[in-house]
Amino acid sequence: MSMRLEIDLTDVDMFVRGEHLAAFEHLRAHEPIYRNESAEGGRFWALTRYDDVLWAYGNHAVFGSEHGAILGGSFRSEADTAGGKMLVATDVPRHRLLKQQIHPAMSAAVTARVADQVRELVNAAVDRAIADGGCDFATELATELPAGALMVVMGIGRQDAHHLIGLTRRMIGFRDETFVDIGEDARLRLAWLQAEIFEFFADLVDERRSKPGADLVSILLGAEINGRRLSEEEIFYNCMNVAVGGNETSSYTACTGMLALVEHPEQYDRLLSAPELTKDAIEEMLRWSSTNAYVQRVAKADVRRGDVLIRAGDSVTLWNVSANRDEAQFPDADVFDIGRTPNRHLSYGAGIHRCIGAPIAAAELSLLFDRIVADRVRFEPAGEPQRLRSNFILGMTRLPLKVSAA
Ligand code: HEM
Repeated sequence: MSMRLEIDLTDVDMFVRGEHLAAFEHLRAHEPIYRNESAEGGRFWALTRYDDVLWAYGNHAVFGSEHGAILGGSFRSEADTAGGKMLVATDVPRHRLLKQQIHPAMSAAVTARVADQVRELVNAAVDRAIADGGCDFATELATELPAGALMVVMGIGRQDAHHLIGLTRRMIGFRDETFVDIGEDARLRLAWLQAEIFEFFADLVDERRSKPGADLVSILLGAEINGRRLSEEEIFYNCMNVAVGGNETSSYTACTGMLALVEHPEQYDRLLSAPELTKDAIEEMLRWSSTNAYVQRVAKADVRRGDVLIRAGDSVTLWNVSANRDEAQFPDADVFDIGRTPNRHLSYGAGIHRCIGAPIAAAELSLLFDRIVADRVRFEPAGEPQRLRSNFILGMTRLPLKVSAA
């Protein structure tokens, strides 16, 4: 078998076993622009070096987003696509106009309100974990981060927020039997989940039409692009973008970050003795976790990079998880160093589609780790963590920890 067939980046179990980092190290050294061929995921290019990934992010005129950020097209079928409707799957010039409309739902004022809500939920969850002497960090603590954000951004209650998190979690975990019966047809399952999510937002749209507020749905209902209101479908897609974009990423980053601190106790002690490092520590957790492992683009024209010719219509994947371990950019990239500076990781992407929720994610993570550090809470492993079966979102579905306060 030739080398090109040996690494298959659609092999989800390689990611579950944690063997992907070695595969990427090999690719960066030997075949940095890799032609992935696989039965399941089709053919695509994989960019694995930091400079190449950054180059593609910056070149949005050539690398379009309308085929969606996930390999394999939209969540449903080729005909029913989010392209041109959902922010993350929209190209310029419409992308810029749509982003302007969504921005007020992620403003500094909203971020401050998210912080207050998350603080309340996180404090209660940490208190519970200390009282119980332990918790499953993945299911009992980390999910409070997106819950707090959703409550404010969408203007919904805690129960509804957790219901929505359950739905998006199953959508992102559609290959993981923790969340779904993987015996069923994957496309049907996804179509059903998306329909459930859209139904949730349809109810919300009805409610906000009669009683508008300062939330995302109300903002989208009032939005106009080139003198036209958004269609209901566009509103649903963009609510889903915010929900899927924010629910899994921030909570899974918290899990991977927490596990890194548990596995590197000397770094945790360093953090306890220098709490002012928390901000840098969170950036390092973002780099280390690379929760959104890759995004997809499709080339709109032939383009050459080094000796590789990427042709119009080719699918190209930008591997944040590999770029974030590139030694050319990060000395001792495999060392978890909470004081790392500079730390220009690509975990939020780059260029025009760079994560619009980054300030909210940063607020969520800061509140959690500020609280833990302030109370000098100690965490120890209390069982095997279980990784999510996905090559797109890297996270943990189980993270049992013993918890004690100083
Ligand atoms: C640690 C947490 C997070 C990570 C790692 C993350 C990662 C990313 C990445 C890599 C992109 C770029 C996608 C692309 O280029 O195709 C992105 C975009 C986006 N994210 Fe996040 N995200 C996080 C948190 C959030 C939160 C909390 C929200 C919402 C409250 C959110 C909403 C979005 C949206 C709407 C986009 C599309 C932006 C655009 O296309 O202009 N994300 N995110």
